[in-house]
Amino acid sequence: FQIKVPENEPIKSYLPGSPERLALKAELDRQTANPIEVPIIVGGKEYRTEHKGKMICPHDHQTVLGEYSIAGEKELLMAIEAAEAAKVEWENMPWEHRATIFLKAADLLTGKYRAKLSASCMLGQSKNLFQAEIDVICELADFLRFNPYYVQEIYKQQPNNSAGVWNRVEYRALDGFVAAITPFNFTAIGGNLATAPAMVGNTVLWKPSSTAVLSNYYVMQILMEAGLPAGVINFVPCRGVDFGKVVINHPKMAGFHFTGSTSVFNGIWKQVGDNISNYVTYPRLVGETGGKDFIFAHESADIEALTCSIILGAFEYQGQKCSAASRAYVPESLWGQLKVRLEEEIAKIKVGDVRDFSNLMNAVIDQNSFKNIQSYLDYVKASEDGEIIIGGGTEDKVGYFVEPTVILAKTPTFKTMVEEIFGPVLTVYVYPNDKFEETLELCDTSTVYGLTGSIFAQDRAAIVKMSQALDHAAGNFYINDKPTGAVVGQQPFGGSRGSGTNDKAGSAVNLSRWMSQRTIKETL
Ligand code: NAD
Ligand code: ALA
Repeated sequence: FQIKVPENEPIKSYLPGSPERLALKAELDRQTANPIEVPIIVGGKEYRTEHKGKMICPHDHQTVLGEYSIAGEKELLMAIEAAEAAKVEWENMPWEHRATIFLKAADLLTGKYRAKLSASCMLGQSKNLFQAEIDVICELADFLRFNPYYVQEIYKQQPNNSAGVWNRVEYRALDGFVAAITPFNFTAIGGNLATAPAMVGNTVLWKPSSTAVLSNYYVMQILMEAGLPAGVINFVPCRGVDFGKVVINHPKMAGFHFTGSTSVFNGIWKQVGDNISNYVTYPRLVGETGGKDFIFAHESADIEALTCSIILGAFEYQGQKCSAASRAYVPESLWGQLKVRLEEEIAKIKVGDVRDFSNLMNAVIDQNSFKNIQSYLDYVKASEDGEIIIGGGTEDKVGYFVEPTVILAKTPTFKTMVEEIFGPVLTVYVYPNDKFEETLELCDTSTVYGLTGSIFAQDRAAIVKMSQALDHAAGNFYINDKPTGAVVGQQPFGGSRGSGTNDKAGSAVNLSRWMSQRTIKETL
């Protein structure tokens, strides 16, 4: 059994008349017309509770996709028991057997469940068909194929021996269970956060985001169909506060895999710190958190590459990628031309329902997010230091729609230049050409984040200078490209500073965080 270096799952084009397009349309109709009930899954069994949450379409908020059961203290304690019970057999299973389950799940989701999964992600999280395809199909399949390959490569590493001595390292699972809390914006991240620790023998409690339950549930079903034993991953939609109290504080929580906002991760980190003497082992904390991702242009930048990257980087998926460009630094000499090109291209962007495939943008995730974005736009309208120069319109009668918006900031530390908004809002600061180095310094220091960033220049000396000046400003650093769309196996993803522990999703570094090694020296 040898896993070859995987190939990335190809992105399908869904051309009019193609079988995949017809299958997707049929699924969109089916899921819209047939609301479902999503259970809690603990120890391989389905449970339903009185306490329910609603799953709605953000772009058509009167359309209900179904309800899901919310786990309370009782179900969470049952899930911990199930995880502990399943662990003995799971961690002792030869790794190749574990790997086959995840490889099979990748084939199922790219095969017979492709349309079902894409449709659930489009309807439940308001992604257009391309955004759903690159998330829940391609990226998730890549995680499920590359991670077992990385596991195999880690397990090959063994220490040296000396005369009469046999040294070896056992790569064991952690001493306890792993808790995974996952965000709404990428179903692939949900699937990865739950499966990566499981691949190396851990058992997991998976709390999906309340605004992405549907597609995450279908991923869970696929994992079970692929042969995941009962109790290895327990699917427990619940309130964050209950998960915190019951799961995060539990003495056997040995690892925490998180993606979401910096403030939630900070809160959990503090909670773990306060509880530290109650754990059996120090929990491994791995978090991918917020961002305030930049585009920095040098005066030698190519205007067309810049325009295209700003538009796709800032506005695809309504700017709700942790990696989305949300602040841009542009030299005076380029701004006039760039502004015209942005106006021309943004005017062509259509915003609306996911079922109209010509819409580049759809709705933001929910009413809270809509109101939060509106409050930033209101702030700008009332301020003298910033001005909305493109877009700024919002509409929530049918869905939570926000126009692609560009703000011009007079100061480089204007509120919308430094705070994560998580919507289709880009703030531009135009810097004097002779203040290039000072502006680089500002880009590096004016936010707490360090997730993604792009630089644009054709002058090689400028590329080197910018790369060095922004050394820790972005865990994923792009040169002459947009800051979104990292591909598993090609650009391992993650940031540092306030953006996370930089353990790179979909990499050997991440997988090794879920292993606890035992070193054995035997004298022969
Ligand atoms: P969020 O922090 O609101 O929620 C993330 C998860 O935490 C959800 O499952 C939520 O229910 C749960 N949660 C919320 N409060 C909790 C609490 N008190 N205790 C326990 N769990 C709690 O984030 P979101 O809105 O789902 O996602 C957007 C955020 O995620 C943005 O800040 C974005 O930058 C970040 N993100 C980061 C990455 C990355 O790789 N760095 C990737 C995707 C998203
Ligand atoms: N991996 C996602 C991206 O790079 C977050 O856009």
